[in-house]
Amino acid sequence: MNDYTVTIEKVIQESYDTRTLAFGWDAEVRPGQFVMVWVPGIDEIPMSVSGINGRTKSITVKAIGEATNALHTLSAGDRMRIRGPYGNGFDLSRGEMLIIGGGVGTAAVISATVQTGSDMIIAARSEKDIIMNDIASRYSKNLRIATDDGSAGFRGNAVQLMKEMVSAKHYDCIIACGPEVMLYFTYKACEELGLECQLSLERYMKCGAGVCGCCVMDDMRVCKDGPVFTKQQISELSEFGKSKRDACGRLISMR
Ligand SMILES: Cc1cc2nc3c(=O)[nH]c(=O)nc-3n(C[C@H](O)[C@H](O)[C@H](O)COP(=O)(O)OP(=O)(O)OC[C@H]3O[C@@H](n4cnc5c(N)ncnc54)[C@H](O)[C@@H]3O)c2cc1C
Ligand code: FES
Repeated sequence: MNDYTVTIEKVIQESYDTRTLAFGWDAEVRPGQFVMVWVPGIDEIPMSVSGINGRTKSITVKAIGEATNALHTLSAGDRMRIRGPYGNGFDLSRGEMLIIGGGVGTAAVISATVQTGSDMIIAARSEKDIIMNDIASRYSKNLRIATDDGSAGFRGNAVQLMKEMVSAKHYDCIIACGPEVMLYFTYKACEELGLECQLSLERYMKCGAGVCGCCVMDDMRVCKDGPVFTKQQISELSEFGKSKRDACGRLISMR
């Protein structure tokens, strides 16, 4: 049984639309794994485990719809039902790593930075969308910020900054989570530069545990075989960067 009722210990406002819920949970979790969060009367949704600190774990929620807005109404002392942890997580033994978080995707990679102290890029549309730079600056040897509008840090996207950093220093592996368009161009850059990568993908999930098949990409279940995929695995995913399935299983173009 991997179904738990946890009590929220703290709520941290990360930005105008994103909050971290920290809760007590005595489970072994690896960076890159996720939980299914039950939102009573609404849905059950996947959320990366953003904080792994002894028995305190956390999720970081961007309010974009009904379930995520409902999670934003929770406060310290409230209880929450979760299942997990699910997914494979990152392999953090790949030498010198550059970790990239785009938007709320930063939540999926921040614990990898905390555990390794690796160089990191946090990318966002604008300064007001940057999350978790305080914790990243405490743990990362070299934290760089990229914003599309230049309101903070490097003016440009994560992949442009990644190319600049990779030309100045040797990295063995790129670790990234963010919008799929960012992951697609990260993958393309890694192909060009002959760099290994591990990318955390998002697909519509119902069971989270490899049973229902709704997150399938080719012969891979994103919830069970992923959500982290290597460059070699990604090269065999025909839908990557092109299309995804909605709640009814219909294929929707991403382009
Ligand atoms: C492995 C994984 C980890 C994730 N980690 C985070 C995280 O750390 N923080 C965060 O804010 N978000 C995360 N997400 C995305 C999050 O699950 C969706 O934003 C959330 O489900 C939206 O629900 P809603 O009811 O608020 O919005 P809705 O209006 O119902 O949906 C908005 C959009 O969210 C996506 N979505 C909705 N339901 C699901 C579902 N069951 N599975 C996958 N995508 C869905 C769809 O693209 C949909 O179009 C993660 C998704 C996956 C697959
Ligand atoms: S969500 Fe059910 S198999 Fe992945």
